[in-house]
Amino acid sequence: MTATSERRVVVAGAGNMGRKWIDTIAATPGARVVGILDVDAAAAAAAAGTLEGPGVLVGTDIAGLADLIAATGADVVMDATIPAAHHAVTATALRAGCAVIGEKPAAQTLAQALSLCAGAEVYDRLVLVSQSRRYNPHVDALAAHGASLGGLGIGQTDFYRAPHFGGFREEMDHPLLLDMAIHPFDTARYVLGAEPVSVYCRSFNPPWSWYRGDAAAVATFEMDSGAQYTYNASWCSDGAETSWNGAWRLNGAGGTVLWDGESEPVLDGAPDLDPRASAAGASRARSGIAGAWDAFLSALDAPATTPRPRGHIHENVLSLAMVEAAISSARAGLPVAIDDLLERARERALADETDPAVRERLAGWGAVRDHLLGAGRTAAVG
Ligand SMILES: NC(=O)c1ccc[n+]([C@@H]2O[C@H](COP(=O)([O-])OP(=O)(O)OC[C@H]3O[C@@H](n4cnc5c(N)ncnc54)[C@H](O)[C@@H]3O)[C@@H](O)[C@H]2O)c1
Repeated sequence: MTATSERRVVVAGAGNMGRKWIDTIAATPGARVVGILDVDAAAAAAAAGTLEGPGVLVGTDIAGLADLIAATGADVVMDATIPAAHHAVTATALRAGCAVIGEKPAAQTLAQALSLCAGAEVYDRLVLVSQSRRYNPHVDALAAHGASLGGLGIGQTDFYRAPHFGGFREEMDHPLLLDMAIHPFDTARYVLGAEPVSVYCRSFNPPWSWYRGDAAAVATFEMDSGAQYTYNASWCSDGAETSWNGAWRLNGAGGTVLWDGESEPVLDGAPDLDPRASAAGASRARSGIAGAWDAFLSALDAPATTPRPRGHIHENVLSLAMVEAAISSARAGLPVAIDDLLERARERALADETDPAVRERLAGWGAVRDHLLGAGRTAAVG
């Protein structure tokens, strides 16, 4: 595939996010939606009806995804299905030779996400997880200011909102931790410049909650830099709501940086601020899913020696590990070590894997953390 070839995209999942992705892809010169898959035939047909140009093929069964890819000549699959379907969609797309950009989370479970990392290696295709809230110039500025403070020791996010979604979120055991917390956890890794070591989490469901599972949590992570990152959050808190990005505080020896999640981060202190760091913060990259899409397309066209983009599945898995570790800690009432969780997830993935080549690859990894972080160095072909 050369930089000038048209990207032919099958979009799986034509719900809320799928429709946004279809609009984003349709507005991209050099990319075209050629197929739409959704178990809800009306949703798939309605989404196809919004597209101009040559006919778009529509499918309604995940078992037919490989045929849809073959019939449309697609080289990219965009996965905006519900989390429970992410592994099947991405694994099928990889076997059919497609690169994948998928909505967060990478998969419903860490074990499934590790299977997809090994699948990306075996089939030599890029898999990028769209962690859309990390594509934000304010987040880049927060990271740059944080880096200027002489070593961060404290990170905190407060998140209090009261959305009524209906649908799958109101039926999950841990809607806040599984569906929302991955955004700030992923951002915390980036702005602290550190990886998670362990977590202690309490989750709970306030008496007035309209969710079946726990809609609130307090989680404290130890990071490998020595920093502590604390997440205080509720998805059923009316009044004085924070922004969707939450309210952030990073603190180092040189002072504090605050971010309300909506406006420019504010630095309070007398740090020896490197002007180049501020300039790096003033990113001109697009925000949200458009930023993820741009990063994906650039990575597909990049030479094989180029470092993979942030969000590639090996890098993103540690954000999902933070989610699963927090849930595991909340269930057990005990701290959880991320490395133990990663190794147990690999055992689970090996037990569940149905693709022999992927199982062999997974079995050949060294320590999971080392493999995930080491695998980030160069790009796969798309
Ligand atoms: N980046 C963000 O800010 C953000 C925001 C919301 C949702 N999301 C993520 O996007 C994904 C989709 O969320 P949504 O809000 O669009 O949900 P949604 O319920 O609106 O849409 C999901 C669609 O997937 C379809 N679907 C379910 N199972 C399927 C299967 N096996 N095969 C094909 N289609 C299937 C459903 O019929 C539905 O149309 C989730 O992973 C969610 O976590 C991300």
